[in-house]
Amino acid sequence: MQERGKFSNKIGFIAAAAGSAVGLGNIWKFPYETGANGGAAFLLIYLLCAFVICMPIMVAEIAMGRHARLNPYGTFKKLGSRTWGIVGLIGIISGAVILSFYNVVSGWAFGYFLQISFGNLLQEADFSAFFTRYIADVGDNLLYSLAFMVLTAAIVLGGVQKGIERWTKILMPLLIVIMLILIVYGLTLPHAGQGIEFYLVPDMGEVTANTFYMALSQAFFSLSLGMGALITYGSYISDDDHIVNSAALVTITDTLIAFMAGLMIFPLVFSQGIEPGSGPGLVFVSLPGIFEAMGPGIGNIIGGAFFLLLCFAALTSTVSLLEIPVAFITDQYKISRKKAVIGLATLIFLLGLPSMLSQGAVGWLSEFVSYGGKSHDFMTVIIDIFSDIGLPLGGLLISIFVAYRWRMHNFSAEVSKGNPGFPGSRQEKFVSIMLSYVSPLVIFFMLMVIIMEKFFEVDILSYLF
Ligand code: PFF
Repeated sequence: MQERGKFSNKIGFIAAAAGSAVGLGNIWKFPYETGANGGAAFLLIYLLCAFVICMPIMVAEIAMGRHARLNPYGTFKKLGSRTWGIVGLIGIISGAVILSFYNVVSGWAFGYFLQISFGNLLQEADFSAFFTRYIADVGDNLLYSLAFMVLTAAIVLGGVQKGIERWTKILMPLLIVIMLILIVYGLTLPHAGQGIEFYLVPDMGEVTANTFYMALSQAFFSLSLGMGALITYGSYISDDDHIVNSAALVTITDTLIAFMAGLMIFPLVFSQGIEPGSGPGLVFVSLPGIFEAMGPGIGNIIGGAFFLLLCFAALTSTVSLLEIPVAFITDQYKISRKKAVIGLATLIFLLGLPSMLSQGAVGWLSEFVSYGGKSHDFMTVIIDIFSDIGLPLGGLLISIFVAYRWRMHNFSAEVSKGNPGFPGSRQEKFVSIMLSYVSPLVIFFMLMVIIMEKFFEVDILSYLF
C-alpha cells in the first residue's frame, strides 16, 4: 500500500473540512431550499438539524476514519464486517454521483464569473430568461465544467493537504467580507424588509413533513455528511486532534455562511419581485440585480469577485468529493494516486453529462421522469435520490453502525485520544444518546414519510395526526 496523506496540523484539518462543508450547498442550495420551504420556519428547523442531529454524526465519521485510517469502504469493513463495507461502498458511489452534478453547477458559477466580469450579463433586461438560456447552452457549460474538473483533479493530485489548507485560510475570509458588503447594500434596497421578514420571522403554520425533511437533508449536504467525506478526511488527522471541537467549529462556520447567504439573497428576491420558491435558479437570478444596482464598473468588479470566490468555495468541496473515491482506489488496490485521479475525474465528468444536458438542452433528459405529480429533469432526480435521500440514509446507517456494531466504548476511546475529558462528560452522554436512539429513530421516521410522499403521494402524517 502507498503512504497515506496527513494534514499538517489541527488548523489544516479544520480548514479542509470547513472548505469541504462550505460551498454551493450554502450559497446556491440553502437559499433556494429555504425559499421553497417557507423561509424562517425552515431556517429554524435547519439549525436544529445541523447542531443536534448532524454534529454528533460528524464526530462519528471523523472518529471512524481516524481509528481505521482508511477510506469509507475500508473503514466500515475494518471496524465492522465485509457486509458493512457495502455501506461504505454505497457512500463512495454516492459521493461520485454528487460530484457529477455538483461539477456542472460549479461550471455555471464559473460562467457567471466570466459573464459578469467580462461579458454583458449585467446589461440583460431579464436575468431569469438569461439564466434559463445559459444553462441550456451546451458549449459554455461543457467547457467550464471540464475546466472545473481538471482543476479539481490537479489539486487532488497534489495531495489534499497542501493546496487546500493554505488557500482556504485566505479566500474564505474574503468571501465572508464580500457577502457582508452585499448584505449591507441589499438592505438599503426597496422592499428589503419583506425579505428579512420572510427569512427571520417564522410562520409555523406553513410547516409540513416536507419542511422537516428538506431541512434535514440540506443539513447533511451542507455539512458534507452521510457518505464518508469526513471519514476520509478523518483518516488523515493526528491522534491528538480534538474531534469534538473541530466538528463544532466546522458546523458553526458552515452554518454561519449559510445563514449569511440567506441574509444576502432574500432582501434581493423581494426587492426584485422574484418568487422565493422559484427553485435552483434563485441565486443566479437574484444576485445580478444587486450588481446592476451598484452600477457598471463597481458592479462588475464586486459581482465578478463574488462568483470567483464562490467558485473557490465550490472547488474546496469538489476536491473533498473526488478525494473519497481516490482514497478508496489507492487504499484498496495497487493503483497509483495519479492513475486513480485521472481515471475517476474522467469517469465522473462523463457521468455529469446527462445532468448538464437535462437543463433544457435535451428534451427527454429535461423531462426525465414523473413522480409526485410533476415531471423532473435528470439532475433533479439525481439530487433527490443521492443527496436528499441518500445522505440522511447514510447518516442513519453511520449512527447505527457506531452505536451497535463498532460500539460506543470503542468510539469514546477514539474520541478521548485528543480529548481526555470526554469519557463520562456531558458531551459524551449527548453524543451517545443521539447516535444510539434519537438520530436513527428521527431519520428513519422522516425517511419513511418523505419517500411515501415524494414517490407514492401518500401522506403518512395525515393518518397519524
Ligand atoms: N458541503 C458541500 C456544500 O455545501 O457545497 C457539498 C458536499 C461536499 C457534499 C462534499 C458532500 C461532500 F462530501
